[in-house]
Amino acid sequence: MKISIVGAGNVGATAAQIIVDRALANDVVLLDIVEGVPQGKALDIYQSAAIQYSDTKIHGTNTYELTANSDIAVITAGLPRKPGMSRDDLLNINAGIVSSATQEIVKYSPNAIIIVVSNPLDAMTYVSFVNSHFPRNRVIGMSGVLDTARFKAFICMELNVSIENINSIVLGGHGDSMVPLVRYTTVSGIPITDLLPKNRIEALIERTRNGGAEIVKLLKTGSAYYAPAASVVQMIDAIVNNRKRIMSCCVYLQGEFGYNDICLGVPIKIGAQGMEEIVPLKLTDDEKAALDKSAEDVKSMLKVVS
Ligand code: LAC
Repeated sequence: MKISIVGAGNVGATAAQIIVDRALANDVVLLDIVEGVPQGKALDIYQSAAIQYSDTKIHGTNTYELTANSDIAVITAGLPRKPGMSRDDLLNINAGIVSSATQEIVKYSPNAIIIVVSNPLDAMTYVSFVNSHFPRNRVIGMSGVLDTARFKAFICMELNVSIENINSIVLGGHGDSMVPLVRYTTVSGIPITDLLPKNRIEALIERTRNGGAEIVKLLKTGSAYYAPAASVVQMIDAIVNNRKRIMSCCVYLQGEFGYNDICLGVPIKIGAQGMEEIVPLKLTDDEKAALDKSAEDVKSMLKVVS
């Protein structure tokens, strides 16, 4: 198993470090355009493996040759959000970066599964899918895993129960109109609505929607990366170990949930083949209306890109 990570910023490097720690691959390649940075970070992580007793080898590079024959390629490259900047502000700059990264990955690793992390996530997943000419099961955006993790973390803080007890799913775009599904949110099987009043649930949903912005505001010089990196690795683990986990990811839709020619967060089964199935859900009218709104927001971004 060989995993390449394009972009040696905080998300890319942290994901690489977790992969090496957990020995999820034989080889990891960390690539960045900045000279010295991927090489330096890779060497540092390589040395950490000596302490973790991980046999995963990691190399840093500025060119794509070393990424050849990757099984998984993660695209984190792009500018991060700055305070006051929306994900959409990044749209056009990152579309250029993601399309050229995708073309290079395809050239050297025609059988790879691509995981897209760059923002705005849904639009960048679309850009990568279109440029890859891959079947849609091999281009997957990381969004719902992170948004679901945030919602679960806030429920955990609120109720002071084990995170293991909490199950949930967040659909839609990775933006302000994402759709945390309260009806599918349980604590050890108990509906969240039995445990928390409506206004508290609403507050946690709102905090989830602003989860990225809350961290950008605190950090002042960058955006979140520990949870985004952990989310990427959860997807990689599902692929590497063929776990067939059901998680919310951003994939290209062809009629599912009533949407066409759009990449949007939906529940998928993820395993060795990448996206192995889109899991159908029977949404209520309110849930469908919220998802429609989120899909509209993504569509309006796609118009800008095309
Ligand atoms: C976030 C940004 C990175 O959600 O999209 O933290």
